[in-house]
Amino acid sequence: MSLRVALLGCGVVGTEVARLLTTQADELAARVGAPLELVGIAVRDLATPRDAVVDPALLTTDAEGLVERADVVIEVMGGIEPARSLLLRAIAGGAAVVTANKALLGEDGPTLYAAADAAGTDLYFEAAVAGAIPLVRPVRESLAGDRITRVLGIVNGTTNYVLDQMTTTGLGFAEAVAQAQELGYAEADPTADVEGFDAAAKAAILASLAFHTRVSVADVHREGISGVTADDVAWAGRTGHVIKLLAVAERLPDAQGTDGVVVRVHPALVPVEHPLAGVRGAFNAVFVQAEAAGELMFYGRGAGGAPTASAVLGDVVTVARHRVLGGKGPVESRYAELAVHPIGAARTRYQVHLRVADRPGVLAAVAAVFAQHGVSLQGVRQSGGSDEVRTAELLVITHGARESDLAATVADLRALEVVEDILSVLRVEGA
Ligand code: NDP
Ligand code: HSE
Repeated sequence: MSLRVALLGCGVVGTEVARLLTTQADELAARVGAPLELVGIAVRDLATPRDAVVDPALLTTDAEGLVERADVVIEVMGGIEPARSLLLRAIAGGAAVVTANKALLGEDGPTLYAAADAAGTDLYFEAAVAGAIPLVRPVRESLAGDRITRVLGIVNGTTNYVLDQMTTTGLGFAEAVAQAQELGYAEADPTADVEGFDAAAKAAILASLAFHTRVSVADVHREGISGVTADDVAWAGRTGHVIKLLAVAERLPDAQGTDGVVVRVHPALVPVEHPLAGVRGAFNAVFVQAEAAGELMFYGRGAGGAPTASAVLGDVVTVARHRVLGGKGPVESRYAELAVHPIGAARTRYQVHLRVADRPGVLAAVAAVFAQHGVSLQGVRQSGGSDEVRTAELLVITHGARESDLAATVADLRALEVVEDILSVLRVEGA
């Protein structure tokens, strides 16, 4: 007996899912133990031209009706609604669901997890984080016997492409985004990528899995790359760094010693010799640190129709096998219920770039502000300034410090009479 598969969405990812379901039907049937029959493809507009691999007879705008006649529902339409309602309807009807929708899982994953748990059905979402890279399953299942302490990585290909172009060609932010749009990496409205929303949703999903604690996208400290200038990139190069948009989720205590997690997405300086610095173009790479396993690195294509479809089909085969052979995948694991601390609890190194008056005592005054907040300096580099030009630039690199102490330092530096401007404050990771 065949398994009925409904596909919600036939865009960049959906088209490639349809292609794999069609062209690899025999192999998929052999792996599952039963044929997968694509019974319909829900779209918004029937008149939109489609790839030849898409059978026009399968297209429908009645997504609600479609999910009710499926054993497996694949959601690759994106957005919060109607995707959430359709998935809930599919789950309530007993279908197994596979989704690539990180925005929905990052915002309201618990509603879906609870519904799937109550219905005793599978909810799989490998494609929602880092496209083709097997990462959700390793964190959710392979490392379930270990204790993860940190997840650090590049989880957005568009921003990595933009920053890579700025680094290698000297382009400004706007020009690099325009180029990414021409190549089809960035959307016409690039906000979700460049402002870090996409990475924050992925970080929330990874943190929830890694720390057995509910983390929503609202818990993630988020800074995008639109404020990164060609000057920041050039300065990074001069000090042996590149700038990357990183997602960091770590388990650590706050100032009161309460164990918890901090999840953040922001541009950061990465030393050129660190493997993340070598992640070029639209690729993704994620380090997972676990107590027994040590450090693991996952690398590959984090976006694109075919790579993402690969991850979707992997999930489809798994949930379909469960239908044929019995069994069920993991449910939401949130037993740890750790506190989710604000960014102030994070601890890392910083580079503070200042324009200051160039006269005796200025360096000492600046260093004193860092010292007052217990922030230890690793090095200071001065450029500019002369007997004639009475302004210089200082690049201050700190040792590891708590974010709240660094923030207080920066606030006091702004108020210092000798500080003319704070040109940038960047975290330094992987050093
Ligand atoms: P697209 O915008 O290319 O495709 C979306 C598809 O969903 C279209 O076929 C569209 O129909 C259909 N759709 C949208 N809204 C509705 C609706 N209300 N009713 C019925 N159909 C609808 O998106 P992508 O393929 O790029 O992304 C899909 C999902 O995969 C998203 O959640 C995304 O975050 C995720 N993802 C995408 C990756 C990528 O590289 N693109 C990588 C990893 C995850 P129509 O064609 O008629 O407009
Ligand atoms: N827009 C995302 C990226 C792909 O650039 O990585 C979908 O997750």
